[in-house]
Amino acid sequence: MKQTVYITRKLPEDIINTLSLHFHVRMWKEENIPVPRDILLKEVEDIDALICLLTDKIDEEVIGRAPHLKIISNVAVGYNNIDIAAAVKRGIQVTNTPGVLTETTADLTFALLMATARGVTTASEALRNGKWGAWSLMEFTGQDIFSATLGIIGLGRIGEALVKRAKGFDMNVLYYNRSRKQDKEQELDIHYAELNDLLQKADYVCLMIPYSTEVHHLIGKEELSLMKPTAILINTARGGLVDEDALYQALKNRDIWAAGLDVFEIEPVPADHHLLSLNNVVTLPHIGSASYKTRMSMAQLAVENVVSVLGGGEALTPVQM
Ligand code: GLV
Repeated sequence: MKQTVYITRKLPEDIINTLSLHFHVRMWKEENIPVPRDILLKEVEDIDALICLLTDKIDEEVIGRAPHLKIISNVAVGYNNIDIAAAVKRGIQVTNTPGVLTETTADLTFALLMATARGVTTASEALRNGKWGAWSLMEFTGQDIFSATLGIIGLGRIGEALVKRAKGFDMNVLYYNRSRKQDKEQELDIHYAELNDLLQKADYVCLMIPYSTEVHHLIGKEELSLMKPTAILINTARGGLVDEDALYQALKNRDIWAAGLDVFEIEPVPADHHLLSLNNVVTLPHIGSASYKTRMSMAQLAVENVVSVLGGGEALTPVQM
């Protein structure tokens, strides 16, 4: 009998076709609306594999309802939406999609950094709203990127890819990582700094670490107070890394210059969110990996993980050790 796969969001047809050759496939048919919790809990009852997105909370309750489940394949590199301990306890393999999104996410991070530094969205909006009175010497002035100091928190794949872009702009690069990566320092021409030191020295602080409860609100009031008044915070990792109330105050008081945010504690962000009321914030709707090619590669890799594991093979990109 064919094994059953449930997909929590509409994936492109070509990708489903591969899966359907091997398995019985069911899918939530909406592209922009996550599967409701009650439907998810029902759908998992007889499945062997689950393909899910970062919007799906795959906790102990979901796992408990799926007695035959062998693999949870997340279409994302981050997997803080999944209760890994509960999966391990049940011997369920969890996979993610590292590698295929590295360069695309680094591109977006650098684009957000540049847009935030030069107030691109604010200036553009002003023009559209008829607020471009005359060319002015000091209006719409931002911060320079070339030769500035970039502080990267988390030197993983995406952090390293960001270094390459920064070097093209003659930036000095500092990094902080839980474990120092001395071999990378010479290779990439970067310098290690303790977290507080990095926060004090960097003109740009980019968060590039995965979220876990240990790093919840890693950037809070105290950390923001260490940053320069001209510094810019960029977050394309996870919203939970930053205390948004503390960030709002720091931006409002101009304790820091600006922030570029692709991610938020609660997504989608309500339109009346306090951070959206500030003109020194550039916001994006979590689009770090959103190039057509990369999103297709992520879906493809998620499917390949399922095909391999349900076929009795190894996961290609396992999350668990
Ligand atoms: C996106 O945020 C991802 O984790 O892939």
